[in-house]
Amino acid sequence: MQRLPAFAFLIVALWACQPAPKIADAYTFQLPATFDSLPPVPTENQLTEARIALGKKLFFDARLSADGKLSCGSCHLPALAYADTFAISAGVHGRLDVRNAPSLLNVAYQQTLFREGGIPNLELQVLAPFVNEGEMNLNIRDLARILVADSFYPMAALEAYAEQISPLIMAKALACFQRSLISSGSAYDAFMQGDSTAMTSAALRGMQLFYSDQTACGTCHSGFLFSDQQFYNVGLYSLYSDEGRGRLTGNPDDVGRMKTPSLRNVAITFPYMHDGSVVSLGAVLQHFNTGGKDHPNKDGRIRPLNLSQMELSDLKAFLYALTDTVYMPTQLSLHGYESTEAPQSEGNNREN
Ligand code: HEC
Ligand code: HEC
Repeated sequence: MQRLPAFAFLIVALWACQPAPKIADAYTFQLPATFDSLPPVPTENQLTEARIALGKKLFFDARLSADGKLSCGSCHLPALAYADTFAISAGVHGRLDVRNAPSLLNVAYQQTLFREGGIPNLELQVLAPFVNEGEMNLNIRDLARILVADSFYPMAALEAYAEQISPLIMAKALACFQRSLISSGSAYDAFMQGDSTAMTSAALRGMQLFYSDQTACGTCHSGFLFSDQQFYNVGLYSLYSDEGRGRLTGNPDDVGRMKTPSLRNVAITFPYMHDGSVVSLGAVLQHFNTGGKDHPNKDGRIRPLNLSQMELSDLKAFLYALTDTVYMPTQLSLHGYESTEAPQSEGNNREN
């Protein structure tokens, strides 16, 4: 009991000296011309360098799970576009959840989160992994109590928010860090900004197919995120054990509907679909080419396309051109991406 008042005093003193976030600290999004809007940011949680730094530290801190082994970064790996390579990510104590971890790159633009869109913003999403037994399995209030005694967090929280570390501050800082994860350095972006050599001829043919009436890919995978952020049943199953949007709304018409995923960096976010059941991009394209399984809610655009092997290979080359090579060139080669999945003969990316 001796130390507590002194500690409390220190906090109060620091708090009192803490100015409002400095302008110099304010974070500016670096966006290419292909991104035609800024991501929405809540006024009460504007991005600053200090907030992003605090959020980053939390994101990679394994104390965020009950057994101290799992951080957010265990399932959302920077080298893998903030996704992982497991169909279903293993949670704490090896428990299994039911879904594939999505990439968090450009997550700032997501209007709703999770496959069924049940969570409206990143501040609230942060609380979900803590209450989900399959994930962190730790009470965020207990965690905040542990972090108050830490050598880094109390000061960092004061610097970032002029407040003591708390569940709310953790949620806000994690949201700031995730909003800063912008990825835009793909061959496609370079091409769209005027570098006519950025995309291979196969990728260009694939792009034409992608936006054609024949495939209709670009009607759901639209805009600079390659997602309209709506929910569709693409005929993956005739019986869905994970009802997706239906689980949220209780409406039978929503069964099997999942949020259209962004296709940026899709070459490295395998396996695919909400449950990671489709192992490769080739297999995903095969699914769309055959039209999938029958389901009363299946979207009319998912039907046999009768694409040739050449056309499928072109579509794949286009999907490869959506990989951010500026952001993760080394990780890509480490990952064996060039050799295993790339369309042969024509390189899938710019040399530089
Ligand atoms: C055990 C693996 C695992 C851990 C640990 C984990 N996640 Fe996830 N994350 C997932 C999975 C699986 C999903 C997909 C859930 C769904 O769609 O229902 C997901 C979804 C998300 C989404 C929604 C993305 C979108 O586009 O809809 C965000 C944001 C996110 N996680 C952030 C975090 C943060 C922050 C942490 C740490 C506090 C964290 N995750 C810890 C596996 C994990
Ligand atoms: C009716 C809207 C719609 C159309 C048309 C469509 N998609 Fe999709 N696509 C989706 C949805 C929704 C998912 C996610 C399904 C799931 O998770 O079960 C998806 C998943 C994918 C995935 C897997 C991404 C990942 O990260 O898991 C790829 C790749 C893909 N689509 C490419 C295409 C291509 C190429 C075409 C055209 C041949 C196409 N899509 C047509 C809605 C659509």
